[in-house]
Amino acid sequence: MKSAIVGCGSIAAVHGTVLTQHIPTTLIGAADIKFEKAQKYAETYSTVPYASLTEMLDAEKPDVLHICTPHYLHVPMAVEALNRSINVFMEKPPAMTPAQLEELKAAAAKSDKLLGFCYQNRYNPCIQAAKKLIDSGEAGKVLGARAFVTWCRGEQYYTGSGWRGKLATEGGGVLINQSIHTMDLLSYLLGNPTRIEASMTNHHLKNVIEVEDTMEAYLTFGDVHATFFATTSYCADVPPIIEVACENMTLRIEDPDLTILRPGAAPEKPELTALAPIGKSYWGSGHLACISDFYHSLETGTPFALDLPHMEPSIRMMLGAYESARELHPVDLKG
Ligand SMILES: NC(=O)c1ccc[n+]([C@@H]2O[C@H](COP(=O)([O-])OP(=O)(O)OC[C@H]3O[C@@H](n4cnc5c(N)ncnc54)[C@H](O)[C@@H]3O)[C@@H](O)[C@H]2O)c1
Repeated sequence: MKSAIVGCGSIAAVHGTVLTQHIPTTLIGAADIKFEKAQKYAETYSTVPYASLTEMLDAEKPDVLHICTPHYLHVPMAVEALNRSINVFMEKPPAMTPAQLEELKAAAAKSDKLLGFCYQNRYNPCIQAAKKLIDSGEAGKVLGARAFVTWCRGEQYYTGSGWRGKLATEGGGVLINQSIHTMDLLSYLLGNPTRIEASMTNHHLKNVIEVEDTMEAYLTFGDVHATFFATTSYCADVPPIIEVACENMTLRIEDPDLTILRPGAAPEKPELTALAPIGKSYWGSGHLACISDFYHSLETGTPFALDLPHMEPSIRMMLGAYESARELHPVDLKG
């Protein structure tokens, strides 16, 4: 298998490590519009640097393209690769707007290649263990859930990158960039969302960035109504908290821990296999498992759990949060 990467910034290091040390593939090229970044990356991961995606695809004809560029480039780059019959593994978010989502769906529908997304936190052992308890019926009926993400993201994080903090290039702020994983995990654990009502504001970075630094949402998953999500900036990168209240137990997830609270019993902490994070600890430990799973699907021709059809409800939930917050009305997510 021949793999290539576009965008040689922070997250590309995680993909480079996984591809060169853990997956039976050859990293044949790395492209960055800042050629010196591609050169440095190519030295680190022993590959060939390029200054543009098109030039790299023309020269190397990879089987898989990893997209690690700013948000506004994800869909155009994925469409270019799919149109050239190249499999695509894309960093989140899959799309910034409903129009982009439709464009991506059209390109994926025309192509027989695999399009997968990096929602690596679904692979965290604590999430897998909680999902097993819910799906097996042991936890009992889900009654509601709450989730909170508070990470440290100051002015420099947004304004220093050249693309964050701006609607045109980031598509939103704290939700689309950081808390997208935790909102997605609600849908992974509870099923497809059916309605969302959200609001957003800037508490910390008023008049500094044009995107939100704070978002709250009230979500419905079928007949499960009591689901609350909130995210804002904080002084430290502490693990997100997800709590799912079920008939037989409450599941409290604070990665890497899962605590099971049964009525009248002492809290239980099941022993979970620890995965070592590659990269920053708050990116979680799931990149290796997620990328490995994608390549396993490619090799075996089996469906990938994070492909467009599986992820569409979660993508619509994230886009629905923005629609609701901008237009000040609840958004129906069914269909
Ligand atoms: N899954 C995760 O947990 C996770 C974590 C961090 C970042 N991300 C995602 O990864 C993506 C990149 O984030 P980052 O933090 O690495 O950003 P970054 O700014 O560090 O890197 C982006 C790179 O893309 C390059 N680039 C910009 N325009 C380009 C173009 N036209 N062609 C080629 N290269 C171009 C930039 O020069 C830069 O080197 C974002 O979508 C982000 O949301 C995901």
